[in-house]
Amino acid sequence: MKQTVLVSGGAGYIGSHTTVELIEAGFNVVVIDNLSNSEASALDGVRQITGKDFPFEVVDCCDKAALEEVFKKYEFDSVIHFAAFKAVGESVAEPLKYYGNNLNSFCNIIELMNKYGRHNVLFSSSATVYGEPEELPVTEQSMRQPATSPYGNTKQMCEDILRDCVKAYNKDGNGLKGIALRYFNPIGAHPSALIGELPRGVPNNLVPFITQTAAGVRECLSVFGDDYDTPDGSCQRDYIDVVDLAKAHVVAIKRLVDGKNKANYEIFNIGTGRAVSVLELVNAFEKVNNLKLNYKIAPRRAGDVTAIWADPTQANNELGWKAERTVEETLASAWAWEKHVRGIE
Ligand code: NAD
Ligand code: WQD
Repeated sequence: MKQTVLVSGGAGYIGSHTTVELIEAGFNVVVIDNLSNSEASALDGVRQITGKDFPFEVVDCCDKAALEEVFKKYEFDSVIHFAAFKAVGESVAEPLKYYGNNLNSFCNIIELMNKYGRHNVLFSSSATVYGEPEELPVTEQSMRQPATSPYGNTKQMCEDILRDCVKAYNKDGNGLKGIALRYFNPIGAHPSALIGELPRGVPNNLVPFITQTAAGVRECLSVFGDDYDTPDGSCQRDYIDVVDLAKAHVVAIKRLVDGKNKANYEIFNIGTGRAVSVLELVNAFEKVNNLKLNYKIAPRRAGDVTAIWADPTQANNELGWKAERTVEETLASAWAWEKHVRGIE
């Protein structure tokens, strides 16, 4: 029988790409989203890519009664929980918005999974839990550092909530099981250019700012700092292609469904293992897309870590997952998506 997965936040950037990969891997999906940071049209893109229809309900995961109706209506054993707010700066300005949404939505999901005997959950965690790392690359065993933003704090707290709930609600080995995937920096879009990232307002993240600058929506990219202690002075990150990232969810959910997990709560870094600087990324974008980007060196951005990249060995060995797309392919897909959104030929 086909397995069904509830995808919360499935109209969003990573959720929509994961929904495609789940369907292509043979899963049934039920998508819920409150559309607070997405458009339902993203799911039309998913339907177009896969040629499959699936149920979508506009539900706020903080509304427990509405969420419970979803649990009553659909048979699913697994949940992938993307639904959260994610803007680091906004979380500093409006912490209660972040604690309220990110914690309540996850607690409701876990509570209802427990009540209705749905056992497999993936949680979208983040490399932000490592803060400014003491060693590079970071492994899952590297120390988490105190969170530098309320957003980061919600990721650490949700990881802890999952760890504690799995312990409490799986005493007989036949209850809740969870995996936290710590994403590094997701970028790019589906190769079809039918789905991609849709930031509202001025983008905070580097790649949407680059593509919007190339499209003429933004005048000039500011490279935040060229005096860091890195080979070219700009910050280094581990940029992970969003389709590769989506595929990691498929193998992780299969691991839980098939009972291949080695503990009831597991954590995996989802990154490439490659450190790429801001200037390297800008140069690669120009080269692969054959264009010149208007950029300038600007002061450092408050709160940025100098460098972080993943040791993905555990995901490689345990999940049998490896990042496949090159940075060039990913940057070409990001530009193709931006052109699609802007109607540029
Ligand atoms: P996104 O904003 O595109 O997607 C999140 C989706 O959740 C949106 O469609 C939004 O409308 C929905 N949502 C938010 N709160 C909700 C609620 N209470 N009920 C129902 N739906 C709700 O963000 P994304 O980039 O796709 O991120 C997905 C997840 O991955 C988030 O948990 C995010 O924190 C995490 N993450 C993202 C990144 C990144 O850089 N994009 C990195 C690490 C972790
Ligand atoms: C990448 C690099 C900037 C914009 C954030 C969150 C993290 C995770 C992923 C959710 C940095 C530089 C950026 C610009 C620039 N999200 N930059 N000019 O900060 O590594 O991670 O998204 O969990 O929690 O903090 O990503 O894309 O914002 O920045 O020079 O206009 O690009 O300084 O070095 P970041 P980013």
